[in-house]
Amino acid sequence: MSAEPQVPFAVPAVPALGTARRRFFGQGGAEPYARGLQHGVGTLILRPANDSTAAVPLRLQLQHWCAPAAAEERALLRGLRGPVLDVGCGPGRMLAAAAAIGLKATGVDSSEMAVQHARARGAMVLNSSIFDALPQEGRWGSALLLDGNIGIGGNVGALLARLAQLLDVRGSVLVEVDPRADMDLAYQAILEDAAGHLSEPFPWSRVGADALAIHAAAAGWRVAGTAGFELRGFCWLRRVGPPH
Ligand SMILES: C[S@@+](CC[C@H](N)C(=O)[O-])C[C@H]1O[C@@H](n2cnc3c(N)ncnc32)[C@H](O)[C@@H]1O
Repeated sequence: MSAEPQVPFAVPAVPALGTARRRFFGQGGAEPYARGLQHGVGTLILRPANDSTAAVPLRLQLQHWCAPAAAEERALLRGLRGPVLDVGCGPGRMLAAAAAIGLKATGVDSSEMAVQHARARGAMVLNSSIFDALPQEGRWGSALLLDGNIGIGGNVGALLARLAQLLDVRGSVLVEVDPRADMDLAYQAILEDAAGHLSEPFPWSRVGADALAIHAAAAGWRVAGTAGFELRGFCWLRRVGPPH
């Protein structure tokens, strides 16, 4: 049996902002995230960049992100009002699931490789940071933060305040939370693959349901509902009033 032709890995361009290089999940260094997405399988380890943080390493399964959305994940979409903004959409499984039920959804992701995969699935995706200027600001119906994406930017309060700018007044956010309800960590993280390819350090957070409720209140959101399956937990956020 002839071996799978090895596709040479091309290091994607790293977006720059002025002089400071922006640091995103799994990017820079030996690009473990882009490499992993290119193959669609494998385990990535999300760990602290240094020992000063108590965060235990997390094992992330790429095939889970590259496979179609699970039935329970698809069911979560039913609680959302379009247009949906899938924040950190990755290779787009939730966007494909939304399209399948006629729910208007757009992804935003800072990874070029993830965006290529999501577009190959027929999804609408913006290759951008959630903190950049985006279309339809103030008019999105809801936002998705799955797979630990509440950690994007390493500042939960800033991310929730950004979503308060992007969503309309009746907007809601579906957040996947850490299994430990009191988990509340912001740290410099690194992504590593099984071959030892390391990313550059990037800011990340991990937050459980109890800590999320506190961050949410400070950003003008309240926990309006929860759900869970297979050790995964989710919170729906709705606005309290204008952001404080
Ligand atoms: C933990 S992964 C989750 C992957 C994804 N939800 C999925 O279904 O495959 C985090 C995702 O967020 C993206 N990301 C990280 N920082 C971002 C930012 N500032 N703006 C937009 N996307 C970002 C990463 O590129 C990555 O695709």
